[in-house]
Amino acid sequence: MTCRRDFLRLSAVAAAGGMLPGCGGSEFETAAAETWRHASSPPTEAVALARELVRCATLAANSHNTQPWHFSIGAETITVRPDLSRRTPVVDPDDHHLWVSLGCAVENLALAAAAYGRRAELSFDERAAAIGIALAPMAPVRSPLFAAIPQRQCTRAEYDGQRLPAVELGALASTASGPGVRALLITDRARIDQVAEYVIEGNNAQFVDPAFMRELKQWIRFSDAEALALRDGLSSRASGNPSLPRWLGELIFPWVVTAAAEKDKIARQLRSSPGVAVFVAAAEGPVHWIEVGRAYQRFALLAASLGIRNAFLNQPVEVASVRPKFAQWLGLGGLRPDLVVRFGRGPLLPPSLRRPVDAVLGGAASLRAGNRAGASAPA
Ligand SMILES: Cc1cc2nc3c(=O)[nH]c(=O)nc-3n(C[C@H](O)[C@H](O)[C@H](O)COP(=O)(O)O)c2cc1C
Repeated sequence: MTCRRDFLRLSAVAAAGGMLPGCGGSEFETAAAETWRHASSPPTEAVALARELVRCATLAANSHNTQPWHFSIGAETITVRPDLSRRTPVVDPDDHHLWVSLGCAVENLALAAAAYGRRAELSFDERAAAIGIALAPMAPVRSPLFAAIPQRQCTRAEYDGQRLPAVELGALASTASGPGVRALLITDRARIDQVAEYVIEGNNAQFVDPAFMRELKQWIRFSDAEALALRDGLSSRASGNPSLPRWLGELIFPWVVTAAAEKDKIARQLRSSPGVAVFVAAAEGPVHWIEVGRAYQRFALLAASLGIRNAFLNQPVEVASVRPKFAQWLGLGGLRPDLVVRFGRGPLLPPSLRRPVDAVLGGAASLRAGNRAGASAPA
């Protein structure tokens, strides 16, 4: 999805035509700074603590930035459930990415709980489709991964191509392995080039699927005003591009975001990346996908703490006809590859936004306060 979210060419067209609006950049930056921070002091009161844990959870990576979660706060417990109104049924028909996203969120929550003196014990209730988190007192542990929560981002830029030292690769590989999950790190140039071929094959299949393109566009926030109003979705700015009014973005999107242009960009992005990590769970189903999310989130936080960037290129695991071929090439023996992530050193891009805590607390509250995909927003 990295490439299909990129609007460099779109921006170039707009800039050439002098069409870029004088947009609320500073308002976006203020919102981003308010989003990507730690609490100024450790929350002590129980509800304030639970709300801060939920806020940290929402800073996790999540598919299309749909933020597909509800949180309920109880006495020393927090329950996380999927927000099914935020599914992306075309790109994610079996809710794989949705459960991975919830896994990313609960990993942030557990790290924040430890920093604030609570051990988070996670359980999964399959019947209720809910993740229960029991909180018990412990000595606070402010881990480097917790410290990196506000620094982490999916960085869809080109990297510098420089190989990472073995000690960093070793640390990333072991942090990214968890209960029933392993991360295969590919650093051989010829094999990375082969990964590019699977990504391009998947990307080509998605680009000729009108339902896929419709769903993707629904989650793009072309303008700052739209991103600021909804605080979700894929903002143009977070892809390193300027704000455009939706009417203009939608008009030129099909002309500038094409399969051929994406192909070149995928190749460039992977050539600039000294490594690719493929996350693989021991089995399929929500409980395993949650663990994949937890493992990825740890990987991304460790990477952020080391100044290493990462971004997904999930096309080979999203497209059903490509996935088995990719799995076979990886030698997975029937297991499903869950995530494809490139990494390396490079520049940061502007961050994405998040909905406020009140918008994700409780079922009804979430639907009222949250802005669902397709909800109207200023252009
Ligand atoms: C399960 C999952 C799948 C994702 N797939 C892609 C992808 O294929 N391409 C991409 O550019 N980003 C992908 N992302 C990244 C999200 O778009 C990103 O996390 C979200 O926009 C929020 O931005 P942030 O991570 O920088 O905070 C994925 C994230 C998750 C958790």
